[in-house]
Amino acid sequence: MLFDIRPKENRKDLYDREKEIEMIKDSVQRKAWMAVLGMKRVGKTSIVNVSVNETNSIALSLNLMRIYDPRRRNYPKSSFTNLFLESINSTIKKYTLSGKVLRVVSNILGIDESSFIDFNIVKIRARLKKFRNEDIGFVIREMDELAKDNGKNLVIIFDEAQELAKVNGINFSSVFHDIYDYCKNTTIIFTGSMIGILEKVLKNIEYEKPFFGRYIRRIYLQRFDREASKDFLIKGFEEEGVRISDEVLEDALNKFDGVPGWLTFFGSECSFSLKHGKAIKVEDIVKMAIKEVKEEARNFILSTQSKERYSATILALERLGGKGELKQVTKVASTLLGEEVPEPRIYDILNRLLGYGFIEKQAEEYSLLRDLPNRVGVIEAASELIKGV
Ligand SMILES: Nc1ncnc2c1ncn2[C@@H]1O[C@H](COP(=O)(O)OP(=O)(O)OP(=O)(O)O)[C@@H](O)[C@H]1O
Ligand SMILES: [Mg+2]
Repeated sequence: MLFDIRPKENRKDLYDREKEIEMIKDSVQRKAWMAVLGMKRVGKTSIVNVSVNETNSIALSLNLMRIYDPRRRNYPKSSFTNLFLESINSTIKKYTLSGKVLRVVSNILGIDESSFIDFNIVKIRARLKKFRNEDIGFVIREMDELAKDNGKNLVIIFDEAQELAKVNGINFSSVFHDIYDYCKNTTIIFTGSMIGILEKVLKNIEYEKPFFGRYIRRIYLQRFDREASKDFLIKGFEEEGVRISDEVLEDALNKFDGVPGWLTFFGSECSFSLKHGKAIKVEDIVKMAIKEVKEEARNFILSTQSKERYSATILALERLGGKGELKQVTKVASTLLGEEVPEPRIYDILNRLLGYGFIEKQAEEYSLLRDLPNRVGVIEAASELIKGV
């Protein structure tokens, strides 16, 4: 179903993206490492899932969003190892891979195999310290061997990979170096929506000494253009067996501006209402989406050193009609705060907002995102946090 709101697994549920899927499949076959980059809700996870499912691979998926906490600058090593072990556990279950990997992991932890299979949190947590850095590489090597013995590739997916940089006590550069050198059957896919931040991490991986000169292929996912968005909605509603008026369709196209996640959410809610004889209100769906973004933006702003300045920078963009150059933004933000903020400081703030995907930049101009949920959500968070200034 096109309007299924979970990340897609099969191509029949995915609209278009043929080109990107072919690129990912081709890269997996050639064992070229890659990064799939794009704004939030653009379809990164779906596209990676669908592509990897169409190759003859075992997928080990590490969703770093699970340890993500915008208010923390660092994560303890144990949160990563726990996530790593959970992912190994689900891969073993999904592909019914009994045998050596299970034995190896249980041995390292010093627990019995059934406790690992059942993922006995109490036992595992007590043994996490036994899991050393070199064991990560060791376990992956075993997975690589196992995949090879089954005539398959191993694909390791690091979702929201920029978070790796915040994990204390693990030298990922050397982990990746080992994988690159010893796991000839393995491909790594990094994905992330905080593009600026992830790019920094990728560059570090590419240029850090032991890894020098190894290139990670970038695949950028753009939102749908207007024509594709319209076609997606029409096909989706056809599949659901409901009809919506041209007016509602146009309204949704204007408000969601080609962001696949919003279009899917809209389609799903709208179909549900129509099937159950309720009136559709595009406004209500927009409100729910705004709330989601607002929460994300709020958490981010609260994690910074200066919530007033971040908020004022966002509001300055709004006052400027949604976009402006550094000089203009500095001027308006200073007026809002009633203090002269140095231009280099606003430059840093704009670039951090950009790195985290809350705003965009074309040439010298910074701008709020065009879709209503992202634009209004960020503005509402900023307005609330600047109160009292
Ligand atoms: N090409 C597509 N066809 C159909 N549905 C899609 C497509 N792309 C994305 N979606 C839908 O949009 C939503 C977001 O997709 P997905 O989770 O894959 O995106 P993402 O970029 O990984 O998002 P996030 O940044 O939140 O992790 C999901 O509901 C998914 O089903
Ligand atoms: Mg995702």
